[in-house]
Amino acid sequence: MKLVENLKWRYATKKFDSNKIVPEQDLEYLKEAVQLSVSSYGLQLYKVLIVEDALVRAKLREFSWGQSQVTEASHLFVFCNFSEHKEEYIEDYIGNIAKTQKIAISDVAGYGDFIKENLAKKTTSEWQSWSKQQTYLSLANLLNACAELKIDACPMEGFDTVAYNKILGLDGRGLNASVIAPVGYRSEEDQTQYRKKVRKTVEELFETV
Ligand SMILES: Cc1cc2nc3c(=O)[nH]c(=O)nc-3n(C[C@H](O)[C@H](O)[C@H](O)COP(=O)(O)O)c2cc1C
Repeated sequence: MKLVENLKWRYATKKFDSNKIVPEQDLEYLKEAVQLSVSSYGLQLYKVLIVEDALVRAKLREFSWGQSQVTEASHLFVFCNFSEHKEEYIEDYIGNIAKTQKIAISDVAGYGDFIKENLAKKTTSEWQSWSKQQTYLSLANLLNACAELKIDACPMEGFDTVAYNKILGLDGRGLNASVIAPVGYRSEEDQTQYRKKVRKTVEELFETV
Protein backbone atom coordinates (compact mmCIF):
# COMPACT_ATOMS: atom_id res chain seq x y z
CA MET A 1 0.00 0.00 0.00
CA LYS A 2 2.77 2.36 0.97
CA LEU A 3 4.60 1.84 -2.32
CA VAL A 4 1.54 2.80 -4.34
CA GLU A 5 0.98 5.89 -2.18
CA ASN A 6 4.61 6.88 -2.78
CA LEU A 7 4.25 6.31 -6.51
CA LYS A 8 1.25 8.63 -6.53
CA TRP A 9 3.27 11.28 -4.67
CA ARG A 10 6.29 11.26 -6.94
CA TYR A 11 6.49 12.91 -10.33
CA ALA A 12 9.21 13.74 -12.83
CA THR A 13 10.32 17.01 -11.26
CA LYS A 14 10.93 19.83 -13.72
CA LYS A 15 12.02 22.55 -11.31
CA PHE A 16 14.06 21.87 -8.19
CA ASP A 17 14.62 24.14 -5.19
CA SER A 18 18.36 24.65 -5.48
CA ASN A 19 18.64 25.72 -1.81
CA LYS A 20 17.68 22.31 -0.48
CA ILE A 21 20.34 19.62 -0.20
CA VAL A 22 19.74 15.90 0.38
CA PRO A 23 21.33 14.96 3.74
CA GLU A 24 24.24 12.51 3.72
CA GLN A 25 22.33 9.77 5.53
CA ASP A 26 19.48 9.88 2.99
CA LEU A 27 22.05 9.76 0.21
CA GLU A 28 23.49 6.60 1.76
CA TYR A 29 19.99 5.06 1.81
CA LEU A 30 19.52 5.89 -1.89
CA LYS A 31 22.90 4.34 -2.70
CA GLU A 32 21.95 1.19 -0.85
CA ALA A 33 18.67 0.91 -2.78
CA VAL A 34 20.65 1.18 -6.00
CA GLN A 35 23.24 -1.30 -4.77
CA LEU A 36 20.53 -3.87 -3.96
CA SER A 37 18.97 -3.67 -7.41
CA VAL A 38 18.44 -6.84 -9.40
CA SER A 39 20.55 -7.41 -12.50
CA SER A 40 20.86 -10.11 -15.11
CA TYR A 41 22.86 -13.04 -13.64
CA GLY A 42 23.64 -10.62 -10.76
CA LEU A 43 26.50 -9.06 -12.72
CA GLN A 44 25.73 -5.36 -12.05
CA LEU A 45 27.39 -4.20 -15.25
CA TYR A 46 27.40 -0.50 -14.43
CA LYS A 47 28.75 2.23 -12.24
CA VAL A 48 26.83 5.18 -10.87
CA LEU A 49 28.45 8.60 -10.72
CA ILE A 50 27.04 11.16 -8.30
CA VAL A 51 27.99 14.53 -9.71
CA GLU A 52 28.16 17.35 -7.18
CA ASP A 53 30.68 19.65 -8.89
CA ALA A 54 28.80 22.78 -10.02
CA LEU A 55 31.12 23.54 -12.94
CA VAL A 56 30.86 20.02 -14.33
CA ARG A 57 27.09 20.16 -13.96
CA ALA A 58 26.91 23.51 -15.77
CA LYS A 59 28.87 21.93 -18.64
CA LEU A 60 26.59 18.87 -18.64
CA ARG A 61 23.48 21.06 -18.75
CA GLU A 62 24.63 22.48 -22.08
CA PHE A 63 24.32 18.94 -23.42
CA SER A 64 21.02 18.13 -21.68
CA TRP A 65 18.65 20.24 -23.79
CA GLY A 66 19.39 23.01 -21.26
CA GLN A 67 17.20 21.23 -18.69
CA SER A 68 17.50 23.07 -15.37
CA GLN A 69 17.25 19.92 -13.24
CA VAL A 70 20.86 19.09 -14.13
CA THR A 71 22.19 22.13 -12.27
CA GLU A 72 19.40 22.92 -9.79
CA ALA A 73 18.87 19.55 -8.09
CA SER A 74 20.83 18.63 -5.00
CA HIS A 75 22.67 15.72 -6.64
CA LEU A 76 22.96 14.33 -10.14
CA PHE A 77 23.06 10.55 -10.56
CA VAL A 78 24.58 9.37 -13.85
CA PHE A 79 24.07 5.66 -14.53
CA CYS A 80 26.90 4.33 -16.69
CA ASN A 81 26.71 0.90 -18.29
CA PHE A 82 29.84 -1.13 -19.08
CA SER A 83 30.16 -0.64 -22.81
CA GLU A 84 32.79 -3.33 -23.48
CA HIS A 85 32.29 -7.05 -23.29
CA LYS A 86 35.00 -8.36 -20.94
CA GLU A 87 35.28 -11.80 -19.37
CA GLU A 88 36.96 -10.14 -16.43
CA TYR A 89 33.56 -8.81 -15.29
CA ILE A 90 32.31 -12.37 -14.96
CA GLU A 91 35.47 -13.51 -13.21
CA ASP A 92 35.21 -10.65 -10.71
CA TYR A 93 31.59 -11.60 -10.04
CA ILE A 94 32.41 -15.28 -9.53
CA GLY A 95 35.20 -14.22 -7.15
CA ASN A 96 32.73 -12.04 -5.26
CA ILE A 97 30.22 -14.91 -4.88
CA ALA A 98 32.95 -17.21 -3.56
CA LYS A 99 34.21 -14.57 -1.10
CA THR A 100 30.77 -13.44 0.08
CA GLN A 101 29.33 -16.91 0.48
CA LYS A 102 32.61 -18.42 1.73
CA ILE A 103 32.75 -21.15 -0.87
CA ALA A 104 35.49 -22.34 -3.21
CA ILE A 105 35.78 -20.66 -6.61
CA SER A 106 35.69 -24.14 -8.14
CA ASP A 107 32.16 -24.55 -6.73
CA VAL A 108 30.90 -21.60 -8.79
CA ALA A 109 33.21 -21.90 -11.79
CA GLY A 110 30.52 -23.80 -13.70
CA TYR A 111 28.11 -20.90 -13.26
CA GLY A 112 30.82 -18.54 -14.53
CA ASP A 113 31.38 -20.68 -17.62
CA PHE A 114 27.63 -20.80 -18.24
CA ILE A 115 27.44 -16.98 -18.13
CA LYS A 116 30.53 -16.59 -20.35
CA GLU A 117 29.12 -19.00 -22.91
CA ASN A 118 25.78 -17.19 -23.07
CA LEU A 119 27.30 -13.72 -23.24
CA ALA A 120 29.78 -14.71 -25.92
CA LYS A 121 26.77 -15.06 -28.25
CA LYS A 122 25.98 -11.36 -28.03
CA THR A 123 27.23 -8.95 -30.66
CA THR A 124 28.82 -5.73 -29.37
CA SER A 125 25.63 -3.77 -29.95
CA GLU A 126 23.52 -6.47 -28.25
CA TRP A 127 25.92 -6.38 -25.29
CA GLN A 128 25.68 -2.60 -25.08
CA SER A 129 21.91 -2.43 -25.19
CA TRP A 130 21.65 -5.33 -22.70
CA SER A 131 24.09 -3.76 -20.22
CA LYS A 132 22.21 -0.48 -20.63
CA GLN A 133 18.92 -2.19 -19.73
CA GLN A 134 20.38 -3.16 -16.36
CA THR A 135 20.81 0.49 -15.40
CA TYR A 136 17.07 1.11 -15.78
CA LEU A 137 16.25 -1.45 -13.09
CA SER A 138 18.60 0.40 -10.83
CA LEU A 139 17.08 3.74 -11.83
CA ALA A 140 13.63 2.45 -10.88
CA ASN A 141 14.85 1.51 -7.40
CA LEU A 142 16.42 4.93 -7.00
CA LEU A 143 13.12 6.59 -7.94
CA ASN A 144 11.16 4.40 -5.52
CA ALA A 145 13.62 4.95 -2.68
CA CYS A 146 13.51 8.70 -3.32
CA ALA A 147 9.71 8.65 -3.14
CA GLU A 148 9.82 6.75 0.15
CA LEU A 149 12.03 9.47 1.65
CA LYS A 150 9.99 12.26 0.03
CA ILE A 151 12.93 13.23 -2.10
CA ASP A 152 12.14 14.36 -5.62
CA ALA A 153 13.78 13.06 -8.76
CA CYS A 154 13.54 13.16 -12.53
CA PRO A 155 14.53 10.23 -14.73
CA MET A 156 16.15 11.70 -17.84
CA GLU A 157 17.28 10.52 -21.23
CA GLY A 158 17.28 13.99 -22.71
CA PHE A 159 21.02 14.42 -22.93
CA ASP A 160 23.84 13.88 -25.40
CA THR A 161 25.54 10.62 -24.48
CA VAL A 162 28.69 11.31 -26.50
CA ALA A 163 29.19 14.69 -24.80
CA TYR A 164 28.52 13.22 -21.33
CA ASN A 165 31.04 10.45 -21.97
CA LYS A 166 33.61 13.03 -22.95
CA ILE A 167 32.98 15.51 -20.13
CA LEU A 168 32.95 12.80 -17.46
CA GLY A 169 35.93 10.93 -18.95
CA LEU A 170 33.92 7.74 -19.39
CA ASP A 171 35.24 6.58 -22.78
CA GLY A 172 38.64 5.52 -21.52
CA ARG A 173 37.04 3.61 -18.64
CA GLY A 174 34.77 1.40 -20.75
CA LEU A 175 31.74 3.28 -19.43
CA ASN A 176 28.81 4.91 -21.20
CA ALA A 177 26.28 7.38 -19.77
CA SER A 178 22.99 5.51 -20.08
CA VAL A 179 20.41 7.45 -18.11
CA ILE A 180 20.53 10.19 -15.49
CA ALA A 181 18.49 11.27 -12.46
CA PRO A 182 18.80 14.60 -10.72
CA VAL A 183 17.51 14.25 -7.12
CA GLY A 184 16.58 16.89 -4.58
CA TYR A 185 13.45 18.78 -3.61
CA ARG A 186 10.69 20.23 -5.78
CA SER A 187 10.27 23.97 -6.11
CA GLU A 188 6.82 25.26 -5.17
CA GLU A 189 6.88 26.99 -8.54
CA ASP A 190 7.04 23.71 -10.43
CA GLN A 191 3.57 23.58 -11.99
CA THR A 192 3.94 19.93 -12.98
CA GLN A 193 3.36 18.78 -9.40
CA TYR A 194 -0.18 20.23 -9.43
CA ARG A 195 -1.22 18.36 -12.59
CA LYS A 196 -3.08 15.06 -12.48
CA LYS A 197 -0.96 12.01 -13.22
CA VAL A 198 -1.60 10.63 -16.71
CA ARG A 199 -1.60 6.85 -17.00
CA LYS A 200 -3.43 4.18 -18.99
CA THR A 201 -6.09 2.44 -16.95
CA VAL A 202 -5.27 -0.89 -15.34
CA GLU A 203 -7.83 -2.46 -17.72
CA GLU A 204 -5.99 -1.09 -20.75
CA LEU A 205 -2.63 -2.14 -19.43
CA PHE A 206 -3.35 -5.71 -18.38
CA GLU A 207 -4.65 -8.77 -20.09
CA THR A 208 -5.35 -12.08 -18.44
CA VAL A 209 -4.42 -14.99 -20.65
C1 LIG B 1 13.86 6.81 -19.38
C2 LIG B 1 13.15 8.11 -19.12
C3 LIG B 1 13.63 9.27 -19.69
C4 LIG B 1 13.04 10.51 -19.41
N1 LIG B 1 13.60 11.67 -19.86
C5 LIG B 1 13.13 12.85 -19.40
C6 LIG B 1 13.82 14.06 -19.69
O1 LIG B 1 14.85 14.10 -20.35
N2 LIG B 1 13.30 15.21 -19.16
C7 LIG B 1 12.18 15.23 -18.39
O2 LIG B 1 11.79 16.31 -17.93
N3 LIG B 1 11.50 14.10 -18.12
C8 LIG B 1 11.96 12.92 -18.59
N4 LIG B 1 11.30 11.74 -18.26
C9 LIG B 1 10.11 11.80 -17.41
C10 LIG B 1 8.84 11.28 -18.09
O3 LIG B 1 8.40 12.19 -19.04
C11 LIG B 1 7.81 11.02 -16.99
O4 LIG B 1 8.30 10.03 -16.12
C12 LIG B 1 6.46 10.58 -17.58
O5 LIG B 1 5.89 11.60 -18.34
C13 LIG B 1 5.49 10.18 -16.46
O6 LIG B 1 5.27 11.25 -15.58
P1 LIG B 1 5.58 11.18 -14.02
O7 LIG B 1 6.96 10.58 -13.89
O8 LIG B 1 5.58 12.61 -13.57
O9 LIG B 1 4.55 10.35 -13.36
C14 LIG B 1 11.89 10.53 -18.58
C15 LIG B 1 11.38 9.33 -18.05
C16 LIG B 1 12.02 8.15 -18.29
C17 LIG B 1 11.50 6.89 -17.64
